[in-house]
Amino acid sequence: MSKVMVMDHPLIQHKLTILRKEKTGTREFRQLVSEIATLICYEATRDLPLEEIEIKTPIGHAKTKIISGKKLALVPILRAGLGMVDGVMALVPSAKIGHIGLYRDEKTLKPVEYYCKLPGDIEERVVYVLDPMLATGGSAIDAISQIKLRNPKSIRFMCIIAAPEGLEALKKAHPDVDIYIAAMDERLNEKGYIVPGLGDAGDRIFGTK
Ligand code: PRP
Ligand code: URA
Repeated sequence: MSKVMVMDHPLIQHKLTILRKEKTGTREFRQLVSEIATLICYEATRDLPLEEIEIKTPIGHAKTKIISGKKLALVPILRAGLGMVDGVMALVPSAKIGHIGLYRDEKTLKPVEYYCKLPGDIEERVVYVLDPMLATGGSAIDAISQIKLRNPKSIRFMCIIAAPEGLEALKKAHPDVDIYIAAMDERLNEKGYIVPGLGDAGDRIFGTK
């Protein structure tokens, strides 16, 4: 069964309020997506296992801890997931990065895949899939299915805003994937947009439309 964590940290909630505002411009939006991704990553890496090692400080020896053998990979779902990469990399700079390109067909709302390039050693890695929006869940479900074909150690999904419909669909399709969410919203509208949401994340990050 998926573990679902919805963040309640005041910094995330505050930044999310500015992110949602219609008047927030591209530059600030991008910056906020990145900062929120850093804060989600902090929680989403909380349970990585540690091992004890001995090191020498300028004063003496210390038994201290490092993250144990876990290699990480980040896989943003293009386009909007790209906006989260820098923020996550700020905390895990040695992670490798794959890319999955998907867009939602505006009529069917089904994801259409156009690109997939994953790290060659992905089977040795814990994969964090990044996408700011979990709406119907179709894009996340497809991206995770693609990644599973390459047998990673495990997969976690990080998003900024989720709709209940998408969360349920993702949990059902991939019960082995833990999910980290900055905020749960009310519902989807008739066009598949999250309400109240923040609009089209890709367009707001890249200044398109
Ligand atoms: C957005 C978003 C997700 C997807 C979520 O991408 O970034 O990938 O929609 O919707 P779903 O849960 O219903 O699949 P979009 O298709 O707009 O592509 P873009 O990132 O290239 O703008
Ligand atoms: N994709 C977005 O970018 N926003 C939504 O509200 C739903 C899907």
